[in-house]
Amino acid sequence: MPYSVPKLTDFSSAALDAAAGELLFALEQESSAVSSENDWKNFRDRWMARKNGVLTQVNDLWLKAAPKDAKREVGQRVNELKAKVERSVDATLARIQGGPSSARLADERVDVTLPGIRRPLGAQHPVIKTMNEIIGVFRNLGYSVEEGPEIETDYYNFEALNFPPNHPARDTQDTLFIAGQDSKPLRDRLLLRTHTSPVQIRTMEKMKPPVRVICPGKVHRNDAPDATHSPIFHQVEGLAVDTNITFCDLKGTLDHAMKALFGSSVKTRFYPSFFPFTEPSADVQISCIFCGGTGTRDGGPCRNCKASGWIELLGCGMVDPNVYGFVDYDPKKVSGFAFGMGVERIAILKYGVDDIQLFFNGDVRFLEQFA
Ligand code: PHE
Repeated sequence: MPYSVPKLTDFSSAALDAAAGELLFALEQESSAVSSENDWKNFRDRWMARKNGVLTQVNDLWLKAAPKDAKREVGQRVNELKAKVERSVDATLARIQGGPSSARLADERVDVTLPGIRRPLGAQHPVIKTMNEIIGVFRNLGYSVEEGPEIETDYYNFEALNFPPNHPARDTQDTLFIAGQDSKPLRDRLLLRTHTSPVQIRTMEKMKPPVRVICPGKVHRNDAPDATHSPIFHQVEGLAVDTNITFCDLKGTLDHAMKALFGSSVKTRFYPSFFPFTEPSADVQISCIFCGGTGTRDGGPCRNCKASGWIELLGCGMVDPNVYGFVDYDPKKVSGFAFGMGVERIAILKYGVDDIQLFFNGDVRFLEQFA
């Protein structure tokens, strides 16, 4: 029996639901039976013809017949049904005209029950994570971040840092030089920066004191890779120049930074050293975080500090007055300190990594431990 629109006597929501449900069921059935253009025309006219189409009947038998207080709801539902019928008539035509062939449907079938493609979340590389942590410590002290180029001139990497040409202090830097620079004056020749200290000069050239900057970045040295050396590594440089900055400020700042990075029970020790651009210069040692500074662990000598109780961590010193001469600062008016630390070395200690190469091999099994 084909569907015919019933007269309604009950206009309750439940009765309307039931009537609408029946109508939509019939619509669905009749739509799927359409297989030619002719079928479709009949289908369209049966549902939408102005004269006696199903929708017209619905209008007459349901809406017009509805008592006053039900008109509003019936009207709403009739409108919804109208929209659904129109959509179905359109969709039915689309299906018989250009609807995808069953071959194409089979071809494009998607099994939505298959597991999805997993995109693992990335994470910060342990070196970058450590670098950001160091930067954070100094940002909290009011330092701002400066960066410089990895390909530097001899001037910034050496000369302005008080390494005179041919001075033996240059030999300690294991410099990688860019080829084909011999026709240039020495100071313009390019090299891969061996430390982040050139950023000190670049910063002082563009900023007047007071200066408080932290300079993170990649540096290069002609070192054969082994468990503790890599030809590429990272440093964080620090520079503070102002009036009346003393060695005490340097000690207090670095002592605070080491405690922030390694825990408040860590002690620092400043050991005389030499850098051409600082005077006096010091190496900073921290009490060994593996044996608590005792030099012994598990009843034997601590391997990490070679039983000394101390681990050497970074270089520092008061900015050499000669350096101010290169950047137009007046050494009679200002003083300051600088320091430089190796990021991998700090990461190795913090995370107990036993081979620096692990940072650069890109093995996800290693890296995901830091995620
Ligand atoms: N640039 C030095 C190095 O790489 C470290 C350093 C920086 C020392 C700043 C003193 C002051 O060895």
